[in-house]
Amino acid sequence: MTGAAESAIQTDFVFVPKAAEIARGAGARLLEYFVEGVETEYKGDVDLVTVADRAVEKLIRGRLGEIFPEHGIYGEEGTRERMDSEYRWYVDPLDGTTNFAHGFPQFCVSMGLEHRPRGAKPDDDGTLVAGVIYDPMRDELFAAERGRGTQVNGKPARVSRVPELAEALLATGFPSRKRHMSPNIHFYHEFTLRSHGVRRAGSAALDLAYVACGRMEGFWEFNLNPWDTAAGILLVEEAGGRVTDFAGAHYRLASDEILASNGLIHEELIGFFSDMFAGRNLSPIPTAQEFARARKSKEQGAGSSQ
Ligand code: IPD
Ligand code: CA
Ligand code: CA
Repeated sequence: MTGAAESAIQTDFVFVPKAAEIARGAGARLLEYFVEGVETEYKGDVDLVTVADRAVEKLIRGRLGEIFPEHGIYGEEGTRERMDSEYRWYVDPLDGTTNFAHGFPQFCVSMGLEHRPRGAKPDDDGTLVAGVIYDPMRDELFAAERGRGTQVNGKPARVSRVPELAEALLATGFPSRKRHMSPNIHFYHEFTLRSHGVRRAGSAALDLAYVACGRMEGFWEFNLNPWDTAAGILLVEEAGGRVTDFAGAHYRLASDEILASNGLIHEELIGFFSDMFAGRNLSPIPTAQEFARARKSKEQGAGSSQ
């Protein structure tokens, strides 16, 4: 594709140019906090929050309100504005707070726009129409609009062409709350054995953005929220990928499970989820005790043969 064609695609975007400007401003603010270092607080027992999460949500809320005064805003840090509007932004001002608080450079701003038909009930899903994810550490802006494709820093992006799980790189994440209730470690284990590996980098929005631009083939997670996923879902779909629940059903923003892929490995992934939930074809791993016993008998065997 020529440079001219690329810029033609870019100017086609309706919401992205302004949203990108807001996300870049928010990302620049995050970067300042990151360099200064921030104090960490707890939201509940284990969920971290910093002054940056709150200040950047306020900044985004203010800018969105100026530019799109009719639009609603639903933010992770408590913003609920104009919730009966036809358009609603899902905002995660800092996706990857735990990384951010530890100085681990993987985090982003995520903003997804949903169009909700007039008269929609509060629980009804609308249609995701625009999404922007900005990684200030790498100065990468991932953006999409429904029917207009996905771009990374203004260049068209597509999902990868890797055709099977055995050659795929995957990503997942774990909840900060109630970790003992999450079965995901079992899925992590099985998918690690069946693929090139599973990354757990700590920002679900960037994981989705990476699937969209072909850096990874698939991503799954339990119990995410709409502010984590709204922008990333559209990025993946507009880049030619697929997003469903673990059984292959249409993904809803309120869903407890998300499975995103390049599309080519999607059915294979769904098959493994089905096997896993049914307890089929599992690959046992030795417990630490079994491993220690085997190590000891190996050492004893080696000792007696000297
Ligand atoms: C978290 C990140 C992480 C995911 C967690 C999310 P936050 O969002 O996306 O990758 O595993 O489930 O809660 O709290 O950093 O905005
Ligand atoms: Ca998040
Ligand atoms: Ca967050």
